[in-house]
Amino acid sequence: MRYKIPVSEPDIGENELKNVIAAVKSGWVSSKGPFIEEFEKKFSSYIGVKYGIATSNGTVALHLALTALEIGHKDEVIVPALTFASVANAVLYTGAKPVFVDSHPNYWCINPNKLEEKITKKTKAIIPVHLYGNPCNMNSTMKIAKDYNLYVIEDCAEAHGAEYKDRKVGTFGNIACFSFYGNKIITTGEGGMCLTNDEDLAQKMRVLRDHGMDIKRRYWHEVIGFNYRMTNLQAALGVAQLEKIDKFIERKRKIAKIYDSLLKNVQGVVLHPKMSWAKNVYWLYSILIDNEGYGISRDELMNKLAENCVETRRFFYPLHLMPPYKRYAVNCRFPITEKLCSSGINLPSSVKLTEKETYEVAQLIIHFHRK
Ligand SMILES: Cc1ncc(COP(=O)(O)O)c(C=O)c1O
Repeated sequence: MRYKIPVSEPDIGENELKNVIAAVKSGWVSSKGPFIEEFEKKFSSYIGVKYGIATSNGTVALHLALTALEIGHKDEVIVPALTFASVANAVLYTGAKPVFVDSHPNYWCINPNKLEEKITKKTKAIIPVHLYGNPCNMNSTMKIAKDYNLYVIEDCAEAHGAEYKDRKVGTFGNIACFSFYGNKIITTGEGGMCLTNDEDLAQKMRVLRDHGMDIKRRYWHEVIGFNYRMTNLQAALGVAQLEKIDKFIERKRKIAKIYDSLLKNVQGVVLHPKMSWAKNVYWLYSILIDNEGYGISRDELMNKLAENCVETRRFFYPLHLMPPYKRYAVNCRFPITEKLCSSGINLPSSVKLTEKETYEVAQLIIHFHRK
């Protein structure tokens, strides 16, 4: 079904077209070509990190980061129970065990107060995920990582440009991973990037990304690598998208402001969190529906919005309850995650959403509320 108002759609303009055509005409259609380095340099400098290693998607960026940090079987990696599955998948690709942590009730990301109880001798890293555009509590997370000598891989797939205490997310951990999938804040079709300030790690990731091939000695392999490269075509799109990133973020914040102002007094609707230390980029503006206060359930509201051609998404399912992951969370309950997952909705948040459409969605949510 094609919705009149989708959750998200990319804004691809003339410059994107011009760059992609230039890349095609140049013949550099695979993973060599000038747009790749340009995109890596410009994106890493936009975030404020020294080195960028572009990849074919965000999931392999996570796997590349974990591999470069030499995480493997016998190791444990702490991940939020509430996030997209590829975070746990990337940990499992290395042979390590994902260890889940509950969400914070006030801002939905991983709860730093619950981290220490999950740390064991085997713990090597924490992956805080800046969920739906909202930053994690980085001071608390980094302090625990430092106290226990753990790596931090920030998952910024949903939070390009978001800030924690006036510093962009992606600048705190050892490595930051981004996704440029079609619904992300900027897109390269499929695509991802690892950012780091550590030159050795950057070099290691470049080698691992390119089959493990020695950079100076072609066809010589010291390690087993992967083909995780981004193509020049993808990067051509990315360079043009990056020109508009601040405009996109401004637009998303404007949409959030409209939703906030119209929905703030609707009983049973909990707005997207706003912490004093956070500058959210609202990748997907999200609300929680409390059945009792709102009068109908989250799923009923989603159905009614769909009948009115408005697309919404339910929150991710809790990772610890799904078949591939539940064996890593035996006897674990994560009440906050479970509550968020059963009550959360992502509303239309596209950079192409007009103010009129945003009002329309909010008005429908007000209309379906049963007093
Ligand atoms: C938090 C998070 N991490 C990682 C990814 C994986 O990115 P990709 O879809 O580019 O593989 C996503 C995905 O969309 C995500 O939301």
